[in-house]
Amino acid sequence: MNFSKLEAIKCPTPFREIKDIEEQFGVRLIVKEDYQTHPVISGNKWRKLKGNLLHMQSQGYEGIISFGGAHSNHLYALAGIRHLLQIPVIMLVRGDGFDPQNETLTYAKDNGVELYFIDRAAYRVKEGGEIASKVISEFPNYLVIPEGGSNQFALAGIQELYVEIKEQVPDYSHLVLSMGTGGTAGALLSYLKNARSQMVVYPALKGDWMEAEIINYAQFFNKSDSQIPNLLTVRSDYHFGGYGKIPSDLLVFIDEIKIKYDLSLDPIYTGKAFYGLMADIKNGMYKPGDILVFIHTGGLRK
Ligand SMILES: Cc1ncc(COP(=O)(O)O)c(C=O)c1O
Repeated sequence: MNFSKLEAIKCPTPFREIKDIEEQFGVRLIVKEDYQTHPVISGNKWRKLKGNLLHMQSQGYEGIISFGGAHSNHLYALAGIRHLLQIPVIMLVRGDGFDPQNETLTYAKDNGVELYFIDRAAYRVKEGGEIASKVISEFPNYLVIPEGGSNQFALAGIQELYVEIKEQVPDYSHLVLSMGTGGTAGALLSYLKNARSQMVVYPALKGDWMEAEIINYAQFFNKSDSQIPNLLTVRSDYHFGGYGKIPSDLLVFIDEIKIKYDLSLDPIYTGKAFYGLMADIKNGMYKPGDILVFIHTGGLRK
């Protein structure tokens, strides 16, 4: 493992204000450009993997075994880790097999990630599945990282993100971000002690289980804080039909934001969250004087 190569990671990541929002709505909107950590190991992927890498180093693990979807940013980031740090990576991928049209799989394969494909039923049981348990037993000195990287070691990197935000925008009132597993939101929420600062989450998935999931993560990271539920608002109407669904009006919105603010958004996570945020600013959910920090969690591809 060559950790000196981690210099390629850019932290703290920059932030910038979207000026005309305050003029129009009295609300300040600041974008924390966390996608700028690294072009491949980007945003919350880096934040969650960092603590895992340090744990690997301190415990002498030789490689990583993880789980992910065939298009996932997690798989893409781990392929980047494989490339940058020369750490062996085995990925258990939900899907039928290698698809050369799939850029994520191609990038992973080209960079030496060992791919095993498992069907949905086996994927659901993760480590318990036949292929997964066989691979894990064959490589006992590999660290097993869950889907999305949301485990206890993820907390350290998310804490660094939180400290950066507090230093860059000390008087913020709301942290705003997307959600997949809820690990990033849950870890951040576990730090929000100040009752004035709230968290608003715009999930990329359809469903009504997100709030409970984020609170579960927050309590897992910060063993039970009774204040936690009061600080969280989940806006679950901006999933655009569900995870991975990309209707044309979403793409039009993403293009408009790029042109107007020179801000790139991905269509799976940050595009939907930013759309919801702008809609809620317009409908008056946020009040004049509020200072919103939108955390751009990454997901942009080269
Ligand atoms: C770009 C991006 N944003 C947000 C998320 C959601 O993060 P979490 O799974 O921690 O909720 C992901 C997860 O894959 C992601 O890739």
